[in-house]
Amino acid sequence: MTLIDGKAISEQVKQEIAAEVAQIVEAGGKRPHLAAILVGHDGGSETYVAAKVKACEACGFKSSLIRYEEDVTEEELLAKVRELNEDADVDGFIVQLPLPKHISEQKVIETIDYRKDVDGFHPINVGRMSIGLPCYLSATPNGIMELLRRYDIETSGKKCVVLGRSNIVGKPMATLMMQKGKPGDATVTVCHSRSKNLVEECQQADIIIAALGQPNFVTAEMVKEGAVVIDVGTTRVPDATKKSGFKLTGDVKFDEVAPKCSYITPVPGGVGPMTIVSLMKNTLLAGKKEIYA
Ligand code: GUN
Repeated sequence: MTLIDGKAISEQVKQEIAAEVAQIVEAGGKRPHLAAILVGHDGGSETYVAAKVKACEACGFKSSLIRYEEDVTEEELLAKVRELNEDADVDGFIVQLPLPKHISEQKVIETIDYRKDVDGFHPINVGRMSIGLPCYLSATPNGIMELLRRYDIETSGKKCVVLGRSNIVGKPMATLMMQKGKPGDATVTVCHSRSKNLVEECQQADIIIAALGQPNFVTAEMVKEGAVVIDVGTTRVPDATKKSGFKLTGDVKFDEVAPKCSYITPVPGGVGPMTIVSLMKNTLLAGKKEIYA
């Protein structure tokens, strides 16, 4: 069993990005600039945005954090999005999700200029991804593709089961795994809360990508000997022995599943760090105007 070290790969990718940024700046080019909008004080969102700002520093990017209280109106937020769309210094920006209920996430996403949508959530980027055109790829699925690439894990012709059908992970993950190329070329099945034969599907899978958000959902009996298991879950489960009061828990019962696997990602330290690095890669592309002029 090989433990996939997302933390180590993410450090490596950040160094590669930082080296390229140093070259760009030395040649008189513009330092990439990522802006992030954070609404409210959700613990998870605070942690993720802080990690994104820190990763910008490691990559040599400029970053701006724009904060609003929970009661910001939809119109105020949309006005800021439009302002960032027009701000020539900002290469790309994100609006951290989830947003308070009185704000339409879809409206916010669609207001972002797709050329600055480094999250890859805008319908134009999603559509371009689905037909294999250059675009900003959704961060978590792209981070997983990078792990499969760097560990040289065979995906061609393999049976891949994606658990979960979210717009952010499940759907784009399935799209990328079935696309032509390496990694890719897999036979993909998507299972979700209404699937009747989820356990049987998993038992036949060469690759399982678990993105349901249900702690310890995938058990040993669901996993074939020698399977590759990628765990996207990051649920905060209360744990009195931790200083933070919680334990980040994956969708996979790691201790019993790991011995059966050829490769497995841990939580934390697997997919999580790669998600942030994918955003950094998109920001570098945005800075270089490589996808959209
Ligand atoms: N919330 C959970 N994941 C993400 C992400 O990748 N981007 C944004 N903007 N919000 C998120």
